[in-house]
Amino acid sequence: MASSDATGDLSQRSGRTAVLVPAAGRGERLGPGAPKALRTLGGVPMLVHAVRALAASRVVDLVVVAAPEDSLDSVAAMLDEQGLGADVSVVAGGDTRQDSVARALLTLPSDVDIVLVHDAARPLVPEQVVTSVVAAVAAGHPAVIPVLPVVDTIKEVDASAMVVRTVDREVLRAVQTPQGFQRAVLQQAHAESDLGTTDDAGLVEALGVPVFCVAGHEEAFKVTRPIDVVMAEAILARRRASGAV
Ligand code: CTP
Ligand code: MG
Repeated sequence: MASSDATGDLSQRSGRTAVLVPAAGRGERLGPGAPKALRTLGGVPMLVHAVRALAASRVVDLVVVAAPEDSLDSVAAMLDEQGLGADVSVVAGGDTRQDSVARALLTLPSDVDIVLVHDAARPLVPEQVVTSVVAAVAAGHPAVIPVLPVVDTIKEVDASAMVVRTVDREVLRAVQTPQGFQRAVLQQAHAESDLGTTDDAGLVEALGVPVFCVAGHEEAFKVTRPIDVVMAEAILARRRASGAV
């Protein structure tokens, strides 16, 4: 375990920390091609970048990847080759992100008490985001999300493209992953909430459980559209040039 301020007391924990990595999406907004998590950035599959980043944080003991059903063996082999400092297993994902997370959640061993959920589509998440989420859960918050201020002006519009109102940006946050949870809270949320939420904290909110925010990072952005690949490649090139990877 790391010994920085954020993680120092984490080495005293008796339970283990697992990360569930939903990676079974098709990447339709990225355009035609392989499933998004298996497309490459700098020659390396996005999923490998994401799992490397999680393992590098050294606050993660176990990684469970929910992969496309027809690529389980190749994904397992690809991750095996990496020699990561965490146990990695691969399960078949489902039809929705929520389904994929639920399937991975079912496979956790009993000694795991903190569970993170991290999108494979956020391959460049910096280590400090992972450690601060785990530290906040370990400090007693049942649910923790990394967030950033919203930079654009946000307007509510109606079906005829008319502006209804301008939303107060000061109280808005854009939400990233990894999101972190006490295991029992995430399990209850997945068992009891049947919402079409796009994140796990949304399910937890529906239970009335408080959700705490920590600082996210611009480089934890989700690769969603073609322009995001351009940005991700540029960040990787900069990291490689500076010897950071
Ligand atoms: N995901 C998943 N199972 C699904 C759908 C999504 O595991 N049935 C995962 C994706 O692989 C991704 C994360 O959830 O890592 C966030 O989803 P998103 O960015 O929407 O990815 P895709 O669903 O692949 O992209 P798109 O919506 O453009 O098809
Ligand atoms: Mg999707």
